[in-house]
Amino acid sequence: MKARVLALIFCLTLSPAMLIAGEVEVLHWWTSGGEAKSVAVLKQLLEEEGHTWKDFAVAGGGGDTAMTVLRSRAVSGNPPTAAQVKGPQIQQWGDEGVLANLDEVAAAGSWDDLLPKVVADVMKYDGSYVAVPVNVHRVNWMWVNPEVFRQAGAMIPTTWEEFTVAAEKIKEAGFIPVAFGGQDWQEATVFEIVVLGVGGPDFYEQALVKADPAALNSPTMIKCLETFKAIKPYTDANAPGRDWNLATAMVIQGKAAMQFMGDWAKGEFTAAGKRPGVDYVAVPAPQTSGAFLFNVDSFIMFDVKDEDAQEAQQAMARLIMGEQFQQVFNVNKGSIPCRLGMVRGAFDDPALRSMDEFSSAAASGNLLPSMAHEMAVFPAVRGAIFDVVTNFYNSDVSATKAAEQLAQEVQAAAY
Ligand code: GAL
Repeated sequence: MKARVLALIFCLTLSPAMLIAGEVEVLHWWTSGGEAKSVAVLKQLLEEEGHTWKDFAVAGGGGDTAMTVLRSRAVSGNPPTAAQVKGPQIQQWGDEGVLANLDEVAAAGSWDDLLPKVVADVMKYDGSYVAVPVNVHRVNWMWVNPEVFRQAGAMIPTTWEEFTVAAEKIKEAGFIPVAFGGQDWQEATVFEIVVLGVGGPDFYEQALVKADPAALNSPTMIKCLETFKAIKPYTDANAPGRDWNLATAMVIQGKAAMQFMGDWAKGEFTAAGKRPGVDYVAVPAPQTSGAFLFNVDSFIMFDVKDEDAQEAQQAMARLIMGEQFQQVFNVNKGSIPCRLGMVRGAFDDPALRSMDEFSSAAASGNLLPSMAHEMAVFPAVRGAIFDVVTNFYNSDVSATKAAEQLAQEVQAAAY
């Protein structure tokens, strides 16, 4: 009797949204320290509304392994309820007709007013919202341990020429100049950062967004490839295969001086209790100040029959766009909110700089989608670029030959 009374009181205190509780199985690849802390925020918010979170984490930075696993689950007719999918891939899943429509929750939450157009467009298929954006990451950052630079008597570089001067000094002083993870997506990340810096925003767009063969096989691309390869002598022998967050740890621990990586790296500094401007310095990668390579994380929802699960999906989409999630998640993740007009107080200096440069880059035409992080080209073209870049970085192929291969492979993948 007592139990029944308690159950009744419990039901009466629930809000309407809490009465229908469903399970969401969420596929994602956020498994590093900072990433796990960030995704835990979403789990907690959903559980507070009575829903159940079934974690489907597939390790592997950049998410390629997660995408392979997702495809096999979908092919066998058993997709998860929600999955971390980004950029043009959202259109491909839309073409397959398997996505849930999020227009109702988007209209209720005024997503059209709150999202920058460049972000909203990516989330829509055929004019309808089918994905919910989580954040905006900036890719073209350099993460610096200032103490290592100080001990080596080196200056933080703003150009690739200055980089060589600094890296030589750091090497001589007995430190590893560049913390590097030799995995194809990390090599592609550093490569695109170099292309943006050496080639400039217009060249980046021509080569890595429009995938124009004339830009891919050009003297500028050869220079970009040479500059990229010139980083290699300043990495250590254990770089091949290293995870990105272990490379970040080398900078945190003062074993290495710098890392070229998107601002998910900041999530690792934050999780380690490090303060920007004191324990570490975040600056735009050489020659990319004022330009912004963006990478927007998002979730798609699969069309499921179970009504409780549908309810949980809508709740997840609503919570992700909510101010509370946008703030807490992005502070942990190192990214900035995708939602405009957020209160700035909770964010640190690198995040505030990102917010300002996101707006100014958008106004000046220097806001560009990341190729390596699935924002710019379809997966087949991205795969072709990855293959050529990783082969070039890890073999004796000349920059001239690699530029030729880029144009050839990208054309073969595109048609
Ligand atoms: C990116 C993703 C980030 C971060 C990174 C490393 O593709 O957008 O959120 O997780 O991979 O895993």
